[in-house]
Amino acid sequence: MSTWRRRHRQNLEITEMTDSPAVPAPVTLFGMLAGMWQSRAICVAAQLKIADALADGPRPTAELAAWTGTNTPSLRRLLRALARQGVFVELDDDSFGNSPLSEVLSPKAAGSMYAMAMGIADWGWRSWAELEHSVRTGEPAFDKLYGKGLFDWFSADDPDAGALFDDSMTGFSASVDEPVSHALDLTGVRRLVDVGGGHGRLAVTVLDAFPDLTEAVLFDQTHVLAQVPAAIRERDRLRLTEGDFFQAVPVGAEAYIMKMILHDWSDENAVHILSRCREAMAPGGRVLAAEVVLDPQRSAPFAYLLDLQMLTVLTGKERTEEEFRALYAAAGLQLTRVIPTGSMFSIVEGVAI
Ligand SMILES: C[S@@+](CC[C@H](N)C(=O)[O-])C[C@H]1O[C@@H](n2cnc3c(N)ncnc32)[C@H](O)[C@@H]1O
Repeated sequence: MSTWRRRHRQNLEITEMTDSPAVPAPVTLFGMLAGMWQSRAICVAAQLKIADALADGPRPTAELAAWTGTNTPSLRRLLRALARQGVFVELDDDSFGNSPLSEVLSPKAAGSMYAMAMGIADWGWRSWAELEHSVRTGEPAFDKLYGKGLFDWFSADDPDAGALFDDSMTGFSASVDEPVSHALDLTGVRRLVDVGGGHGRLAVTVLDAFPDLTEAVLFDQTHVLAQVPAAIRERDRLRLTEGDFFQAVPVGAEAYIMKMILHDWSDENAVHILSRCREAMAPGGRVLAAEVVLDPQRSAPFAYLLDLQMLTVLTGKERTEEEFRALYAAAGLQLTRVIPTGSMFSIVEGVAI
C-alpha cells in the first residue's frame, strides 16, 4: 500500500475513534452544527481544483499554493482539515495527495462531484442561509432570493449555472443509473421516453441494458438538450426531443421513465406532469418514476435532508408510497408496485387506467 493510501486509512481510523458513544451531547451537536464548515471547506477545495492538481500524485503544499494562487499556510490548514475527514491525504513531508473522496472532486472523474460542489457553493449555499424563510412560509428560499424558480433562473438568467447543474446530475447519476436500470422491468416496452432526462446518461444506460428496445427518447428543455455531449447525441436508438413537460410529452411510448423529476415539484405540478404522460400513452402504458420513497423504517437520514433541499430551492418534496399513490390516482394512473433498486431510489410504477 502506498504511503498516502496508508495515511488516508489512518486518518479515517482517528475519525472513527473520536466518534464514540461517550461523547457528550453538546459536543456531538457542535460537530453537527459545524457540518457547514465541512461543506464549505470541500467546496473551496473544489473551486481551487486541488484534486486536478494532484492527479499525477502528491505535491508539496507550497507548490499547490503557487498553482492555485493561495496563501501557503492557509492552504495547508484547509487541506489538513479536509484530510482529517478523509478528503485528501496529508503526508509527512508537507505534501498532500488525493484520497478516494477527493478524487471525485475533479471535473474529469467518473461520477464527478465537482459540479455538485459548485452548485452547493453558489445558489445552494445562499438558499440554505434562508431556510428559515421556507420553514415559516412554505415557499422556496431560492425564489425569494432570485425572483424566480430555479429552472427558470437557469434558462433565463444564468445558463452557466444551469449547465453546471446538468453536469451535477450526470455526475451523481453515475452512481445510481446502473442499479436503477438493472431493477427496471421493461416487459412489452419497445419505445421509452425519459422525461426530463437531462444530458441522457440514464437513457443510454437503459439502451445498453435492453438491446431489444427499439428507441429511447430523451426529452428535456431546449437549452438542456443543446449541451448533450456528442457521444450521447449520436448514440443509435436514441432520439432527442425538446419541449416542456407541463405542455406535452412525446406520444405513443409504452413507458415513461423520469428520474428525480416528481420530487422537484409541488403535488399540483407533479400531477400536471403525470397527466401529460397519461395523455401521451395508451391504456396499459406505464410511468416509471425513480425517486426516493420515504419510509421511516428504511430511509437513510440523507433522504430527509434531501426533502429539505426540495423545500428550500424548489416547490417539491420527497414522498411516501401513499403520497405517490394519491398523485398517480389524480393523473389517471394506478400505482402498481414500488421496486427497490439497491440505490437511494426506488422505481414507483404506475399503469394507465
Ligand atoms: C433534477 S433534474 C433530473 C435530470 C435527470 N432526470 C437525471 O436524473 O439526471 C430535473 C430535470 O428536469 C428538467 N426540466 C425542468 N423543467 C422542465 C420542463 N418544464 N420541461 C422539461 N424538462 C424540464 C430539467 O431541465 C432537468 O434536466
